[in-house]
Amino acid sequence: MSKTYRVGLVGCGGMGRHHLRVVKNLSEFEIASLCDVVPDSLNRAGDEYGVEARYTDFERMYDEANLDLVTVATQTRGHGAPTVAALQRGLSVLCEKPIAIDLIEADEMVAAAEASGAKFAINQQNHVNPGIRKAQALVKEGLIGDVVLVRGRNKAGRKSGNEFMEMGTHVTDMMLCFGGIPQWCSGTVYNGTRLAEAEDIMEAKAMSPRDRDSGLVMGTRAIAYYGFHEGIVGELRFTDYAKTMSGNYGVDILGTEGQLAVRASGSVEDNLWHLPRPMEGTPTQFSDWQQVDLSDIGIEDAVNTMYRRMIHAIETDTQPPSSGEEGRWAFEMIMGIYQSHREGGRRVELPLADRRHSLEQWREAQ
Ligand SMILES: NC(=O)c1ccc[n+]([C@@H]2O[C@H](COP(=O)([O-])OP(=O)(O)OC[C@H]3O[C@@H](n4cnc5c(N)ncnc54)[C@H](O)[C@@H]3O)[C@@H](O)[C@H]2O)c1
Repeated sequence: MSKTYRVGLVGCGGMGRHHLRVVKNLSEFEIASLCDVVPDSLNRAGDEYGVEARYTDFERMYDEANLDLVTVATQTRGHGAPTVAALQRGLSVLCEKPIAIDLIEADEMVAAAEASGAKFAINQQNHVNPGIRKAQALVKEGLIGDVVLVRGRNKAGRKSGNEFMEMGTHVTDMMLCFGGIPQWCSGTVYNGTRLAEAEDIMEAKAMSPRDRDSGLVMGTRAIAYYGFHEGIVGELRFTDYAKTMSGNYGVDILGTEGQLAVRASGSVEDNLWHLPRPMEGTPTQFSDWQQVDLSDIGIEDAVNTMYRRMIHAIETDTQPPSSGEEGRWAFEMIMGIYQSHREGGRRVELPLADRRHSLEQWREAQ
């Protein structure tokens, strides 16, 4: 009989409970224990999922609950400590996005995984969404020729500052799936009608009190360009449209002979389109986009796939999808925008040499 993986959840809020819904339906896993510092949240989740082992201290949970895998679903500021403590004990971790509050913390998390050999992934689940996987297979087959440009598409409904920390790494992660490792970034950030200044730096909660506590942010609208390997370029706009426009959210892959468009919202069965020519042409030609059949790639909710791939990574000693290192690259692509903007929009090399938060450095220099 195959092993059942015992999962301990840290953070029983909105996304934590989503993880519980997923894990409960996967026969390879059992929800072994829960941890939250707020007893009401802990007991609500415990009662809902019938989990008796409840903790308010994650280290105690790690030491007592005999876990195989830890899910970290605290808000961003709270990702580092429970992740590092689990990895140091040899427990594999699936941590929510974005990886960390800054690159110093992200480095510590990746280093802890390297040192222990435990598996570490960031739940940027679009990495394994069926449309992305099929698009990668089609690119490999040569359907669109050589990849020239990868265009990330934001979801809208947030100012760029909040969007960077909330949805930003989902988008940059999808870009990484086609561009590979980024080499440079050039970014420009506006605050309203003018270029953003140091005085516009604030906490995410000050920009939007209803959003999560995800550290320093700046600006309402932004544009970024990237250089990947072999001359592939990247483009990403954060447009500050007031209303959420989920249909925009995803990635376009432009090749020498055609294009693919993946949309990460909506139904997982129908989120990939193909245009058999390299440029859009006139708006009247937009109807030439053809939907791609995904039935052969395996249709599964992407968070389920993230869990199953964690088992595969543990059992084969390979890296899981959206590994800690890839999660750090996705975050680095966001931090690079601020660093480049501060330097007048010049191309900055990735990885960034100074690992402190670019906005913290900028504010301190005032
Ligand atoms: N991958 C996705 O699609 C997706 C979607 C939504 C949210 N998220 C991410 O999930 C994370 C959580 O977001 P949320 O909206 O669920 O937040 P939330 O505030 O609803 O939940 C966080 C929970 O963590 C608990 N907590 C805080 N510190 C703790 C600690 N030291 N030990 C144990 N518990 C602690 C809080 O009490 C709270 O219950 C964020 O990083 C967010 O970006 C990801």
